[in-house]
Amino acid sequence: MKPLSPRDRLIVALDVADRAAAERMVETLGDAVTFYKIGMELAYGGDGLALVGRLAAAGRKVFLDLKLHDIPNTVERATAQAARLGATFLTVHAYPQTMKAAVAGAAGSGLAILGVTVLTSCDDEDLIEAGYRFGVVEMVRRRAEQAQALGVPGLVASAAEAKGVREAVGPDMILVTPGIRPAGAEVGDQKRVATPAGAIRDGADYLVIGRPILAAADPRAAAAAIVAEIAAVAP
Ligand code: C5P
Repeated sequence: MKPLSPRDRLIVALDVADRAAAERMVETLGDAVTFYKIGMELAYGGDGLALVGRLAAAGRKVFLDLKLHDIPNTVERATAQAARLGATFLTVHAYPQTMKAAVAGAAGSGLAILGVTVLTSCDDEDLIEAGYRFGVVEMVRRRAEQAQALGVPGLVASAAEAKGVREAVGPDMILVTPGIRPAGAEVGDQKRVATPAGAIRDGADYLVIGRPILAAADPRAAAAAIVAEIAAVAP
């Protein structure tokens, strides 16, 4: 497990429609949160890419969850642009060509690439239908090992996968885990959830959390409670 302060392990997913709403949430959370995830919705529709530099300048880290996948030349150049924006993490689909290109594009920058192994919306049947020979468990493991062999520094692994992925790749790869619900929280559309403490125990380095914080009556207090839960197992 990476040595990090409990607060720096929490990544708040800014799953809101536009930059103004995102900035209001960042303001509300204040120094309770140091790391934010910007996904496709905010990046494409809400001027979210402009927010990356602003957050970085304010001493916050940004996880750009754009899940790149294209020809290597395009992935390499797009990754270099994301690095220039000041992002700390960028996701790419864990295809060997794509991962290799992203690692090249991020070289010499502060950007770390995270491989997305298999989308959690896919089951074994979906993979067969898409023409793959492996089921989800084997595919996740295979792609995690390929990522490691290609020098990709990290992976996104759902709470259900975190333990197996950590066992497959050992202690050094960064593991970022969504699908977290504090004990007693609304589960929403997440099917396999873990508590913050459970995910950290399973080997996650960072937790991505959206609705339990964004939809809380007091988001700042919700974030602080999650950080306290992390601190109890990773002081
Ligand atoms: O609101 P919630 O905490 O469920 O948000 C989790 C974030 O992590 C969302 O931005 C979602 O897109 C992302 N995510 C996820 N499950 C995955 C992969 C990503 O919830 N398997």
